[in-house]
Amino acid sequence: MKLLEIFWDDIPYAVLAAAAVGTWWRYRYDKFGWTTRSSQIYESKLLSIGSPMFHFGSLAVILGHIMGLFVPEWLTRDIGMSDHIYHLQALLLGVPAGFATLIGIGLLVYRRRAYGPVYLSTTRNDKLMYFVLVCALVAGMCCTLAGATHFGELHDYRQKVSVWFRSIWILDPRGDLMAHAAFYYQIHVFIALALFALWPFTRLVHAFSAPIAYLFRPYIVYRSRDVADTPELIGTAPRRRGW
Ligand code: HEM
Repeated sequence: MKLLEIFWDDIPYAVLAAAAVGTWWRYRYDKFGWTTRSSQIYESKLLSIGSPMFHFGSLAVILGHIMGLFVPEWLTRDIGMSDHIYHLQALLLGVPAGFATLIGIGLLVYRRRAYGPVYLSTTRNDKLMYFVLVCALVAGMCCTLAGATHFGELHDYRQKVSVWFRSIWILDPRGDLMAHAAFYYQIHVFIALALFALWPFTRLVHAFSAPIAYLFRPYIVYRSRDVADTPELIGTAPRRRGW
């Protein structure tokens, strides 16, 4: 058990260091490769269903994790939320979000396999990333479902996993708590940490440059011009001089 405690004490810092140095390295040496490597040009129908499902599902899963990992149990109790209600809302919101994310990524992986040009543009790096991502999602769903059915006994992650998670950020790691958490939480978090360590070396870097400003910028007004009225727009017809 001692070894496991040391592992959970130290591994988050190794992952944070790999992610930070890796991101700096990628930005410094592969700025032009900092992209999603979009394959929309090869296939757009399945992409237009799978991609929003995956991304909006992930957003809901992330919000759920922020609430579950950063908000201490005493705080939700103090505001009058019973443990039963807390777990019920986590289940009712978390399970659909997790399933939407999984179905979304299922469609995206299927599309990669089924459409020749998309398949040809898929690298070994992409395949590894998809594999770890899908494993993290499936293991996360198993945690929620196992926690909900109590799997024989009650494993409340808010007393172990969440306290361990917060302890990392205040530089007082509580690996002992994680070492005593249910095995399915340990597996899920281990896979999630592997994903974070791989992050800077994969297409996932595009998440750091999400076009958030796009939501707030003013509209761009497009006007169409009737081609028949403006023959100079057709082919190589000589252009009329503007003034
Ligand atoms: C250190 C990082 C992480 C920790 C400590 C963590 C912890 C947890 C815990 C405790 C649960 C169970 C929640 C419940 O029963 O209500 C859970 C569920 C879940 N996790 Fe994570 N997780 C981490 C990272 C990730 C990542 C990177 C992904 C996605 C790739 C992910 C995807 C999921 C999903 C899909 C669920 C089930 C649905 C949900 O609750 O939203 N987790 N996670």
